[in-house]
Amino acid sequence: MKAAVMYQNGGLPQYVDFPEPIAQNNDEVLVTVKAVAIKQLDRSKAAGTHYSSEAKNVNGRVIGGDGVCLLADGTRVYGIGISGMLAEKATIEKSRMVVLPAGLSDVVAAALANAVMGAAMALRFKADIQPGDVVLINGATGFTGRVAVQIAKLYGAKKVIVTGRNEKSLQDLIGMGADEIISTQQEDEQLLAQLTETHRNSPIDVIIDYLWGHTAEMILASLKGKGSFTHKTRFVSVGSMGGDLIQLSAANLRSVDLQLTGSGLGSWSKDQVGLLFSEILPEMFQLAAAGKLRIKTIEVQLANIADLWNLDIPDGHRLVVTI
Ligand SMILES: NC(=O)c1ccc[n+]([C@@H]2O[C@H](COP(=O)([O-])OP(=O)(O)OC[C@H]3O[C@@H](n4cnc5c(N)ncnc54)[C@H](OP(=O)(O)O)[C@@H]3O)[C@@H](O)[C@H]2O)c1
Repeated sequence: MKAAVMYQNGGLPQYVDFPEPIAQNNDEVLVTVKAVAIKQLDRSKAAGTHYSSEAKNVNGRVIGGDGVCLLADGTRVYGIGISGMLAEKATIEKSRMVVLPAGLSDVVAAALANAVMGAAMALRFKADIQPGDVVLINGATGFTGRVAVQIAKLYGAKKVIVTGRNEKSLQDLIGMGADEIISTQQEDEQLLAQLTETHRNSPIDVIIDYLWGHTAEMILASLKGKGSFTHKTRFVSVGSMGGDLIQLSAANLRSVDLQLTGSGLGSWSKDQVGLLFSEILPEMFQLAAAGKLRIKTIEVQLANIADLWNLDIPDGHRLVVTI
């Protein structure tokens, strides 16, 4: 079969002939792959830098973590790859697949799934979002952030505040459900003052963070209390585009009713992952098929994978490889 194969961590994937994978037991199934999105997770796994990467297993490895594929009887499903999915054939777990609704394209389904994990799992299970909550999304300008804005509204958020460095993308988010914009492209003092004022006017219940780094430090500092009762805020770290480390003063932490947690592979319970496949993804695929969840994609061909790997993607779009 043809496949995108990584021979060296941090190199470019190569379009080559590669042996077909074999289902190892009854829990696995061989599928024909149709579309695979390339996300930050695939890039960091391919580079061997993601925390879930198996650093030793780097030679001649098919990349791509999940995608849309056909079962032997032609049923179209979204699945998580056991073998790499940027290939004509892959093996997936039978227990972790979702049958796709008619009217939803392969490309949209492939692009949407990981962003739903990065948005809905954080909002529902880590932030325990409630109707009427005020939600702040830090790094909302990325693909996953844009999906999070929409899902927060679908889950009943009263107000969604978006923060990020990209002014044009921040403006786009107004048309996608965001109610208030805060640009992180300002001096620390001004940014802190704007965040503090926003929290005073509309106490923030939930923060979904895709950046971490300095902007997360500023947001956490803006929650700091003065020794009396504070509003409870549930802060969920989902990504770290702005850096993996922050400084957080213990006094800051003690001064506020703060729940600080993370959402990602390893932080979810078995039941929560079960609900992702039985409820959350099916609902979001239906909403996307009905035009109620909107995303932007760029479709490319597997044969061009080496040239496309470092392609400059327009803001808020997802690269999807069709096979
Ligand atoms: N844990 C999970 O379940 C899960 C699931 C999905 C995603 N994620 C993570 O969430 C993060 C965002 O994913 P995504 O799909 O939205 O990625 P994406 O579409 O590539 O978007 C990245 C966003 O980060 C911004 N950004 C990049 N570097 C930055 C920096 N140094 N400072 C401030 N902003 C910066 C970009 O802003 P510009 O537009 O200005 O370039 C863009 O808005 C990634 O870390 C990803 O791994 C986690």
